[in-house]
Amino acid sequence: MRKKVTKAIFPVAGLGTRFLPATKSVPKEIMTLVDRPLVQYAIDEARAAGIKEFIFVTSRGKGALEDYFDHSPVLEQELRKKGKDALLQTLQDTNMDSGAIAYIRQHQALGLGHAVWCARRLIADEPFAVILPDDVIAAEKPCLQQMVEAYEETGGNMVAAMEVPKEKASSYGVLDVKEDKGEIVSINGMVEKPPEGEAPSNLAVIGRYILTPSVMKNLHTMKSGAGGEIQLTDAIAAELKGNGDVYGYRFKGHRFDCGSKAGFLQATVAFALARDDLRDDLSAYLDQTVEQAT
Ligand code: UTP
Repeated sequence: MRKKVTKAIFPVAGLGTRFLPATKSVPKEIMTLVDRPLVQYAIDEARAAGIKEFIFVTSRGKGALEDYFDHSPVLEQELRKKGKDALLQTLQDTNMDSGAIAYIRQHQALGLGHAVWCARRLIADEPFAVILPDDVIAAEKPCLQQMVEAYEETGGNMVAAMEVPKEKASSYGVLDVKEDKGEIVSINGMVEKPPEGEAPSNLAVIGRYILTPSVMKNLHTMKSGAGGEIQLTDAIAAELKGNGDVYGYRFKGHRFDCGSKAGFLQATVAFALARDDLRDDLSAYLDQTVEQAT
């Protein structure tokens, strides 16, 4: 019987330089799409997938992130007193059970692989998910839930994959495809940020993973790779040299790269247009703006 995936690591210790100066004092993961911080979307997706333990790998200056997950009794009392029930519910929906969240510090931004490795003692000998909150995925069934269901069939390691234009492949981890079965793709290898023109396919890895504890062991001895960072991709690819399996999973949904300004703006518009309270005003404004510009 396969062990259930109940733990997720959220690596949020990066410097967020693409959003300077905002990220001088605001963690990138707290920035909001309309009125919900990026990290709330990640937590909601993890909960839908059955995750019970939420492990954040943080760094200096991320205090606002820890505060975000505190309960707010004064605010709740005030909303109750004023009869603002809908807002109260919105607030309470973000409350986490005591002890469900753990924070680990990554003392130096040595790369995503290193950030994941920092959580090794909390993972121990269990499969685990990794969610990068700056990849926000709009999907009917949340992406990690899709992956957990597929993993129940395949076991092994699984990475979320999506097609990208060939010329963009060098910004991603890229799959060397062995057999493409549609949703599930078996692979010969993975390359992090391949030089232009050398990508083995246009199937790129994005920020959702289900991994075996053996990947943690690989991270233990991993040397720095692309960009001088300790790469998670390399530790996963190392599984293929032993007895491990690695699958790409083509998820159904639309991924927004909210670690980039353009992606963040697109996600803001998409999530606002999906809301009944904002759709009409915003689309009228967008129509008018496009008309004036053309
Ligand atoms: P990014 O490559 O987006 O880096 O990291 P970044 O520092 O967040 O942002 P920029 O590029 O400077 O603007 C991808 C994910 O890996 C985490 C980040 O927090 C983000 O969730 N990460 C990266 C770490 O936790 N530690 C690291 O050392 C590097």
